Order: sequence, then C-alpha cells, then structure tokens
Amino acid sequence: MRSKILGTGIYLPEKVMTNIDLEKIVDTNDQWIYERTGIRARRICNPEGGEFPTDMAERAAWQALQAAKLEPNDIDMIIFASVTPDYKLPNSASVLQQKLGMTNKCTAFDIATACSGFVYGVNMANSFIQTGMAKNVLVVGSEMLSREIDWTDRTICILFGDGCGCAIVGQSEDGEGSEILATHLGADGSGKEFFDQPVGGAVTPIKEHHLKEGTHFMRMKGGEMFKVATRTLADNAKVCLEKAGLSLEDIDWVVPHQANYRIIETTAKLLKLPMEKMIINIENYGNTSAATVPIAFHEAIADGRIKRGDIVLFDAFGAGLTFGATLFRY
Ligand code: UT7
Repeated sequence: MRSKILGTGIYLPEKVMTNIDLEKIVDTNDQWIYERTGIRARRICNPEGGEFPTDMAERAAWQALQAAKLEPNDIDMIIFASVTPDYKLPNSASVLQQKLGMTNKCTAFDIATACSGFVYGVNMANSFIQTGMAKNVLVVGSEMLSREIDWTDRTICILFGDGCGCAIVGQSEDGEGSEILATHLGADGSGKEFFDQPVGGAVTPIKEHHLKEGTHFMRMKGGEMFKVATRTLADNAKVCLEKAGLSLEDIDWVVPHQANYRIIETTAKLLKLPMEKMIINIENYGNTSAATVPIAFHEAIADGRIKRGDIVLFDAFGAGLTFGATLFRY
C-alpha cells in the first residue's frame, strides 16, 4: 500500500511582530535582520486569547479534514511534532484528539525532533500506512517558540515565530499518480550542542537562578548551524532522488525548512536548482520550527503554485541534529 497527502491546513496567530517592533526591544535593525535572514515579520501567539499549540493545531486540522473530505473519526493516528507542546503531560496529540471531538481512541503520540519534526511525522505516517497499521494519519507541526525565546538576546529572538501547519497522509489508490516516492530520515548527535535548551529537563530542573540569568531559554550556535544546514539539505535531496531513481531536473518544487533565506539560497546553489523552484515564506513568519514546511506547502497549494501531479521535495534539518526529506508526487 502506498501513501499520499490528502489535504493540508494551517493556522497563524493574528499578532504580527515586525523587525521594526523588534528594534524597540533589542539592539537590532530591520536592514540587518532582512539582509542576514530574509525575515521581515513573525507571528506571536496570544496566550490570554487561548492561542496555544494544540489550539492552532485544531484550527489547522479542520481545514485539512475539509480538504481531504474526511471526518475527525476517519483519522486513525495523530502524530504531533513540537518542541513547545502545551504541557509536559499529557501529550499534545491526545489533547488535539479531544479538541477535535474524536471518539475512536486512535493512536496519538508526539515527536520532538525540532525543525525536522513535520518531515519525520510524514515519513512515519508513510511507513504506518505502507505496513497497513494506519489508514489516515494527521501529521501536525505546531510551535509556540515565543515562549522559549530570550527576548533580550538579539542573536536569537529575531529568528523565530509561532504557527502551525498540518497534513493528512492517507492511502494512495493504485494508478492514481499521487504518492510518496522516497523518504529519508536521520540524526547526528555529535552536533547536539549547536542548538539546545539544557535547562528544564530531568538533568537540570529550572531553579530560580536560571530564571534570573535567563539560562533556561533556547541557545544556538548560529554559524555552526548554518554550515551544517546547507550541506544537510543538499544531501537530503540527493539521497531521496537516488532512492526514487529520479534526477534533480525531475523536481518541480522544493519546500525547505525556513531557517534563513541564505541557507535556502546556498542549498539551491549546491544543488544547481533555480530559486524559482524553492518555496519560500520566511519573510512573513520567520522560523516556526516544525511548522515551517507544512505552512509553506499549504500556501503554495492555496496560491496555485503546487498542483496535483507535481514532484515535490520536503527538506528539513533541526536541533539534534535531526534531518529528513520526503519526495512525492502531489
Ligand atoms: O532551524 C534551525 C536552526 N536555525 C539555524 O540553523 C540558523 C542558522 N544560522 C543563521 O541563520 C545565522 O548564522 C544567523 C542569522 C543566526 C546569524 O547570521 P550571521 O551572518 O552568522 O551573523 P553573525 O552571528 O556572524 O553576526 C555578525 C554580526 C556580529 O557583530 P560583529 O561581531 O561582527 O561586530 C553580531 O554581533 O552581527 C551582529 N548581530 C546583530 N546585529 C544586529 C548578531 N545579531 C544581530 C542582530 N542585529 N539581531
């Protein structure tokens, strides 16, 4: 049994924070941020308005269900990718199952593979469908990174934003055309210190002094991440193409993780792919971790760029360091 993407959905918080807004908070400026990252604005959740990762996911999921012409109880597995879940316990996939009013007690679990999370989820969904263990899998990437950012650190707070994207992966009927062609997943723990958040876990529970020092927030070695990112994204593409027996010219669209415009540009150069084939929306939303790929994918479908039958590559990397790609005929 092969699988395909049946429908997608997104949710973005209403509140927009521009680079100009950031100039008032930290010592930065619009020109530096735009030139170094390609970002102009990001969205920020409103906690007072009940805007949290599973709330965003619920709204995105209704869109995806409508696009896939399915009811909530048709979903028999939820995979929720996030490094900023609503709670430590229970898992976000279970919370989402309840929010969608599902009564079928389907499998529901979270994965925390950072910015590769959605791609990990799609590839896992593909495997569950191939082995007959699931029929319709809801894969979500939803992040509220604004909670985990040190808003006094200009090297990190300018990069990230909140948002959610999701897709329903289901069975592909024989001869239909739309199908996942190749998948690739991996991790390289030797780079685990390039991007981490060591305080707040079992090893180092948050204490008052962490809160005072601000050492409980995410930390990143941007330069190291940049170097690994470009190499990884290019390698991901090559591995998937080889597995599928296709070449770079066969790709219609690449939906890369949106961490930095220059990373996407360098990857395109390494692969000798024209920038017109890269789906890019980092300008509007910054880096929303596990949500970047499904948001960019959904928008490109909605505005008519990506059409059924196109060959598309999801291509991601993230903290861990994790990486993954999905090559499919949409
Ligand atoms: O999702 C996966 C995780 N994310 C990534 O993989 C991101 C990968 N890394 C990057 O995107 C880039 O490395 C950054 C955007 C984070 C940084 O860009 P960069 O070109 O590597 O800049 P830099 O860190 O080398 O900093 C250059 C200069 C420094 O000043 P000096 O030392 O040259 O005087 C910084 O202090 O820019 C300064 N700077 C800033 N200036 C204005 C750093 N942040 C800012 C800022 N505004 N926000």
